[in-house]
Amino acid sequence: MESENRAYRGHCLILPYPLQGHINPMLQFSKRLQSKQIKVTLVATRHMFNTTISEQAVPSIPVETISDGYDQGNIKVSPEVCLERFREVGSQTLAELIEKLRGTEYPVDCIVYDAFLPWVLKVAKRFGVVGAVFFTESCAVYNIYYHVYKGLLDLPLVDGSERSCVAGLPPLETSDLPSFLSVPGSYLPILGLAVNQQLWNVDRVDFVLCNTFYELEKEVVDWMAKFMTLRTIGPTIPSMFLDKRLQDDMEYGLSIFKPNTGTCMNWLEERPNGSVVYVSFGSLAELGVDQMEELAWGLVDSNCHFLWVVRSKEEAKLPKDFLGETSEKGLLVSWCPQLQVLAHKAIGCFVTHCGWNSTLEALSLGVPMVAMPQWTDQSTNAKYIMDVWRMGLRVRCNDKGIVRREEIEHCVREVMDGERRKERDEEKCNQME
Ligand code: UDX
Repeated sequence: MESENRAYRGHCLILPYPLQGHINPMLQFSKRLQSKQIKVTLVATRHMFNTTISEQAVPSIPVETISDGYDQGNIKVSPEVCLERFREVGSQTLAELIEKLRGTEYPVDCIVYDAFLPWVLKVAKRFGVVGAVFFTESCAVYNIYYHVYKGLLDLPLVDGSERSCVAGLPPLETSDLPSFLSVPGSYLPILGLAVNQQLWNVDRVDFVLCNTFYELEKEVVDWMAKFMTLRTIGPTIPSMFLDKRLQDDMEYGLSIFKPNTGTCMNWLEERPNGSVVYVSFGSLAELGVDQMEELAWGLVDSNCHFLWVVRSKEEAKLPKDFLGETSEKGLLVSWCPQLQVLAHKAIGCFVTHCGWNSTLEALSLGVPMVAMPQWTDQSTNAKYIMDVWRMGLRVRCNDKGIVRREEIEHCVREVMDGERRKERDEEKCNQME
């Protein structure tokens, strides 16, 4: 039969939102599909293609482009305007792409699209194609958004309440909620994007794919699966990082920033096992000058080696005399190959903003964390890191919202050498026996 002779079982378009934390998991998921004999085409915006993809070949994945209406780059428009224009121009150019591929050996069978782009489902349905939404955050966070969307959650929360206010989740304080729901003033403008946009068609979509795994979020996955066709497809991390016997390719994602790979890895090679604190706040978060100063001296005072990713845009915020001080103990880079770094034996702990990818990567590689959430979903991830998975400590802010150097030093020392470290090491030994 003709279908049995085909090299692929079907053709899937993958449409990420063009941000680092969204591209990485969707690209890795693409590779998994490919390994199951599914033809995958990455759909990028023209701007992303011209600025990022044209410089770095995406290994083995063909790329097609559509327009988000800003082919020359987005010149300072609000997220609302940007998303609306992406909807208008993107719908039209995506339809043209599906039409073009109709005439090929592999017309499109399915589109996996980022939750920020819910309009894709309408285009998919117009062409009779399967539509699957991809959630780049944890199930717990989407469950909170779902409760808000359905009017099931009364905000602000009554802090100190023993009862869980969100089904499937542990009791939450206001400070454990995503920042759009907890920080006064940020509620309304972003709420529409964070909550409504991402959830308005989950009842109609063919599949909801969440970058998590069942054992990690059992209760919440079970609860949400009652209302939507939820599938856990994570962690989207190359299998060779999880099991050294597996040799799939090391290429993790498309880097919007250029990593200083050689510098980082050579430096780590010369450090003792478990002696280095890795520090990174992902691709978007920006620390204030005061916070940057406290973090810098907190790291120095911890007296540990540290590898700190300070993106070029943030460098000017470092304290003036800090760079000289760090030459002994620390290495600053503008971007690194994070997975390779976390998998290195020299790493003892990860000071993280708790972005969902970073959290999953650290959990998967068994690296304990100092959780320093900044905004969006990160506070909820921090709550889970400390209280549910018991994989780290969450720093406390002072009344001005700053985490002081003493607190950073204390948390780093505690995670590197304290009781929890001993507990975790014992657990590891028991598991290995
Ligand atoms: C954001 C949100 O914070 C996150 O919670 C959401 O789910 C996706 O969008 P970001 O802030 O960039 O992402 O953080 P994170 O989710 O941790 O993603 C960063 C990615 O960049 C990770 O995959 C990490 O491995 C990679 N990275 C980071 C590097 O490769 N090198 C670095 O130096 C720093």
